[in-house]
Amino acid sequence: MILLAFETSCDETSVAVVRDGSVSSSLVSSQIQLHAEYGGVVPELAAREHLRNLMPVARAALREAEIHPDQLDAVAATRGPGLPSALMVGFGAAQSLAFVLGKPFLGIHHHEAHLYSPWTTGQPLRCDFDAFEPNLSLIVSGGHTLLVHVPAPLHHRVVGSTLDDAAGECFDKIGKLMGLPYPAGPEIDRLAESGDAAAFDFPRPMLREPNGDFSFSGLKTSVRYFLRDHPSLLDEPRAVQNLCASVQAAIVEVLVTKTVQTARRLGVRCVTASGGVTCNRSLRQSLATACTRNRLACRLALPDLCTDNAAMVGLLASQRLLRRAPATSFSDEILPAWTLNDTCLVA
Ligand code: KG4
Ligand code: ZN
Repeated sequence: MILLAFETSCDETSVAVVRDGSVSSSLVSSQIQLHAEYGGVVPELAAREHLRNLMPVARAALREAEIHPDQLDAVAATRGPGLPSALMVGFGAAQSLAFVLGKPFLGIHHHEAHLYSPWTTGQPLRCDFDAFEPNLSLIVSGGHTLLVHVPAPLHHRVVGSTLDDAAGECFDKIGKLMGLPYPAGPEIDRLAESGDAAAFDFPRPMLREPNGDFSFSGLKTSVRYFLRDHPSLLDEPRAVQNLCASVQAAIVEVLVTKTVQTARRLGVRCVTASGGVTCNRSLRQSLATACTRNRLACRLALPDLCTDNAAMVGLLASQRLLRRAPATSFSDEILPAWTLNDTCLVA
């Protein structure tokens, strides 16, 4: 089975070809440079850029996989959640293509696709469902912070989420307060490497509450007031490194502690993580260490698969087709605020 998948939920235009469950090609065109100028993603610009890039990226993905559109058995695209205008570009193109080819179309939930990235390995990339273990999955990106219980493939339930800012948003907003370029997450990760994480004591919101929920806006506010009272620190390179390390330590400690606590509460033996913030080296290391200490298996998505990509959309779509999930109708629309629990295949 040969499937073409599109991902345009935010600021990455991505197209992948998945053949018999393996990724034949996956191309990502990032718009980060475009949005950096504005300090964040501008939805209207994102949509226009997707429109400009989608067909060239699709053509290149098909060429790299040596596939002609006539050979496709199905087409998939991210249906939600995401920026409405951005989602519409990839979803509309994929739906039209499937309609013209007379092939099934699958609208995929972006976070459900993230759930299986940690199981995707090898060359060519495949989603190794044979290795699957019931798990608790942490999805951390610029828009979302979720804890999802995944007892079986394509069976999931959200058990925690952020009450306000997402973890990536917290990195980005604090970085902005410090004058770092957008997106600040990778820059904070880099600067924190040479900093002292114990230099400044920032709050760890909701750390001790017995649930899987997060809140990051208090941490951001605390850094804002701290910088208002100590503005000269930003002129000292060493202090900036220490600030980055201290902020990162607060975010990572909350993410790791709550993930491990929730895994233990649910009685699962495996923790997985994906989403852009899972690129963070301190998070990767701390989560792996905490899992070992608590005798939990730990599977982190490969860094290239943490950020948004169509390969994860195509891999999930082929699994859903194999398990006879219903196709999406040609009259169905995007769902920018789609809840993950609605896509669970198993009752
Ligand atoms: O999943 P993603 O590419 O896009 C969505 O938001 O859906 O995630 C982007 C987020 C941004 O907030 C970015 O700052 C953060 O992931 N990020 C990082 C790192 N790399 C990306 N945050 C901390 N450390 C990193 N190394
Ligand atoms: Zn994402």
